[in-house]
Amino acid sequence: MREVVAETRTHRSSLIQPHFCLPKDAGSEAIASMPGIERQGLQDLLKTVATDLKLGIQSVLLFGLAGDGAKDATGSRSAAPDSAVTEAVRALKAEFGDELLVMTDVCLCAYTDHGHCGVLQDGEVLNDPSLPLLANMAIAHADAGADVVAPSDMMDGRVAAIRGGLDAAGHTGVSLISYAVKYASAWYGPFRDAAASAPGHGDRKSYQMDPRNSREALREAALDEEEGADMLMVKPALSYLDVIAALRDSTLLPVVAYNVSGEYSAVKAAADRGWLDEASVVNETLTSIARAGANLTITYHAREALREGWIS
Ligand code: PBG
Ligand code: ZN
Repeated sequence: MREVVAETRTHRSSLIQPHFCLPKDAGSEAIASMPGIERQGLQDLLKTVATDLKLGIQSVLLFGLAGDGAKDATGSRSAAPDSAVTEAVRALKAEFGDELLVMTDVCLCAYTDHGHCGVLQDGEVLNDPSLPLLANMAIAHADAGADVVAPSDMMDGRVAAIRGGLDAAGHTGVSLISYAVKYASAWYGPFRDAAASAPGHGDRKSYQMDPRNSREALREAALDEEEGADMLMVKPALSYLDVIAALRDSTLLPVVAYNVSGEYSAVKAAADRGWLDEASVVNETLTSIARAGANLTITYHAREALREGWIS
């Protein structure tokens, strides 16, 4: 009876697995703050994705590392035709074709020497001069064959700039998931280790959202929708389930939630000490995100949740 009347169901087709791509052909590196997740070179990534596809993971979100000595003030390598991400996109699409939905993160912070998501002048992040750089990065990913680009920088107007850039380059069929509602959150800590993208000075509060605001979240989302976003993301997920629910009520677009690195690592650390039952906690977490209204969830737990049967 309990099963028959359940109001929320989680399904593997709604899960997106993130990957950290190294600018090299093979090899992998453990990420100390994210047990079970690795940075991978191309051949290792192809093997991981092949196994994940068998588990039913149809979607991946790719993050790139710039590599040693490759960062500069404007993050030039972000739009290179031979970045870790473009190489990964090309290889994944060649190998798996339409079986795999390939999404790429679009942001400058892993490529700038100061670690901010836009370009700087006198220590301040400049909004408008960052827009063409983000558009060029998205075009490079689309040229390589990306199905979806996902800008995470939080500059105003970047959805319109990227959509315009993609269309002008002939990529009218490439979709855009906007990190529309991205809070200035402490839950991103482990990710910044993983992607080597921590800001060298200051914080991201001039461009990411204040956790105290939720009306502003709906305003940000509405602007991105007007500018041409195909899906809207809320990030992080767990401290912001109310925002996911409010956004689900206010838009007809698919809503995506990002169950971020810190949310993953906190569960891992507690489970490792025997303080939490990981299987039940992950099931409850993914169920709560779906119940709040997310149609898709990006989660580092995707692979383990399916392999271990933590969700159906
Ligand atoms: C880069 C980016 C971040 C995340 C996704 N894209 C970090 C940040 O904004 O500092 C966080 C993802 C996670 O914590 O899992 N703009
Ligand atoms: Zn960034």
